[in-house]
Amino acid sequence: MTLPRWFTDTSDDHSQWYIERFRKLAEEGADLAGEARLVDAVVPPGSAVLDAGCGPGRVAGELHRRGHRVVGVDVDPELIAAAEADHPGPVYEVSDLTELELEDRRFDAIVVAGNVLVFVAEGTEPLVLERLAAHLRPGGKLLIGCRLDRDYGVDALDVHAEAAGLRRTQRFATWDLDPFTPDSDFAVSIFVAPSA
Ligand SMILES: C[S@@+](CC[C@H](N)C(=O)[O-])C[C@H]1O[C@@H](n2cnc3c(N)ncnc32)[C@H](O)[C@@H]1O
Repeated sequence: MTLPRWFTDTSDDHSQWYIERFRKLAEEGADLAGEARLVDAVVPPGSAVLDAGCGPGRVAGELHRRGHRVVGVDVDPELIAAAEADHPGPVYEVSDLTELELEDRRFDAIVVAGNVLVFVAEGTEPLVLERLAAHLRPGGKLLIGCRLDRDYGVDALDVHAEAAGLRRTQRFATWDLDPFTPDSDFAVSIFVAPSA
């Protein structure tokens, strides 16, 4: 396994900083549910949802509270421990997305929130997309939100998603569905797996 940029390109205390940041925002009453709201809007009630790169469980926890059957995976054990403590309910697992192999799982939707794609190991994005596509049921949806000021942009994302067998159906500039323009610095892309 090539180490993700989450480990190689951040400081040693980054994980703890990230955990505390979201605990503080939650205490302050910040709206942290935008991604989960959109996922909830595009799947039936009680869907099987994978939160890929779930971090400390913010999105997974909200989807669980909304009645979905949620699995959260992340490569960082410190974040998975925080997710279990702060957002119990989903099934959490430490796993690298490049090696994702969940048994008997074909998800109705997979959500990739919080810039996960800029934190995977450089060059592994196609493999990550292939592994995610392999975990979608026919017709299942993949929702990916990612900032665009790094070296991985929407053109590469579209090419790699298509190579993984996915078809893009929508693209927005935010999780609140603001229109995507050439000047957007963030993209929320929705892909669909082929029907059976
Ligand atoms: C900015 S955090 C986002 C966490 C969470 N999705 C959120 O929105 O709060 C990026 C996450 O990507 C995870 N990540 C990076 N590379 C990964 C990989 N190869 N497999 C699984 N998780 C990975 C990191 O561990 C980290 O939790």
